[in-house]
Amino acid sequence: METGCGQKQPQALTSNGLAQTPPMGWNSWNTFQDRLSDILIQQDADAMVTNGMRDAGYQYINLDDGWALPDRVNGHIQADPLKFPQGIKAVADYLHARGFKFGIYADRGAKTCLGKCPGSYGHETTDAVDFASWGVDYIKYDNCHAGFLSNQEADYQRMGNAIAATGRPMVYSICAWEFKNWMPSLGNLWRTTWDITNQWGSVISIIDLNEPLAPYAGPGHWNDPDMLVVGCSYTPNLQAGRVFDLVSELVGGEGLSDNECQAHFSLWAMMAAPLIAGNDVRTMPDSIRKILLNKEVIAVDQDPLGKQCVEAWKDLTGLYVYSKELRGKNTRAVALMNRTVNQEVITVQWKDIGLPEGKAKVRDLWKHADVGVYTNNYTSPVPPHGVVLLLVTAN
Ligand code: GLA
Repeated sequence: METGCGQKQPQALTSNGLAQTPPMGWNSWNTFQDRLSDILIQQDADAMVTNGMRDAGYQYINLDDGWALPDRVNGHIQADPLKFPQGIKAVADYLHARGFKFGIYADRGAKTCLGKCPGSYGHETTDAVDFASWGVDYIKYDNCHAGFLSNQEADYQRMGNAIAATGRPMVYSICAWEFKNWMPSLGNLWRTTWDITNQWGSVISIIDLNEPLAPYAGPGHWNDPDMLVVGCSYTPNLQAGRVFDLVSELVGGEGLSDNECQAHFSLWAMMAAPLIAGNDVRTMPDSIRKILLNKEVIAVDQDPLGKQCVEAWKDLTGLYVYSKELRGKNTRAVALMNRTVNQEVITVQWKDIGLPEGKAKVRDLWKHADVGVYTNNYTSPVPPHGVVLLLVTAN
């Protein structure tokens, strides 16, 4: 916005017009942590072109923690020259030339979470200007090593203002591990939970924390239940807030089965979550590719109405029905979720998902098949730790 004096005024971040549907892309953290390099990013981008991810909508390629030298150089964050010998702008240029957008990671405190790179506290303007000049399109702003008396909201606001003042459209991804009321007016997305781990118990606990926040999701501003672990190999990753996950790892094993990956991906789509893959996309098996590239499930996530699902029904044994309103009259995406270890049968009643009594068409989005027209309800077997994902359309 121009003022009378021709000076640019920072705009509220929510009016930046970005992220009208949940951002989709890939992030380095869940597989590589700080083992980063320009070659890795180039190989990832090339793989995402070849394997169809880019064209399916995964447009952001985001560098997470560990890209910078431990200390600033002349007041600026400096890319680690061993990892990025040509600097960060060259990475962004490579990605832009192939139709991707580029995301970077920074932190509101004195250091990043790994503790190896400089934080942006007191340097917000310098850093935002540097990021803009490198061609950054997306900033994930983390919450570690903040001063004892720091004001979290003010810190996120300062970086938000600094980003807006650059004039470059950059998605603002708040990563402060829990929802606060001020976040929807400041960020395009905000983490609602602790870090995900590659473990079924982690996926479940995150769904239960994120689902009640449905009223806050909508075009331009999304709840972020963290990046996907679909197809990740197990990587021990001990950060803050992991005690719960560590315990469940000890009792419940590690990694996700294909059914669990499918359930995880289905629920992220139902929750209108950012779909940021975290696996090694260069070596992805076909079973994982089929999950990440299921266009009908992606379309549920990306539905332009931008509604997050709500819990429509559950019982005490671990069976759930989630419903997401989609654009188009009387259209719902419905997830029948079985959290138990046995195959179970789940019924969705039209009255529980806000559809009129009578006939509705049902399509199974994992089978890619219309299953028929049903009156008042639909019943399906659901595999253990699995989800059947449906499109239900009434007249
Ligand atoms: C925090 C964030 C993670 C990741 C790491 C990097 O734990 O929540 O998503 O960015 O920091 O150190």
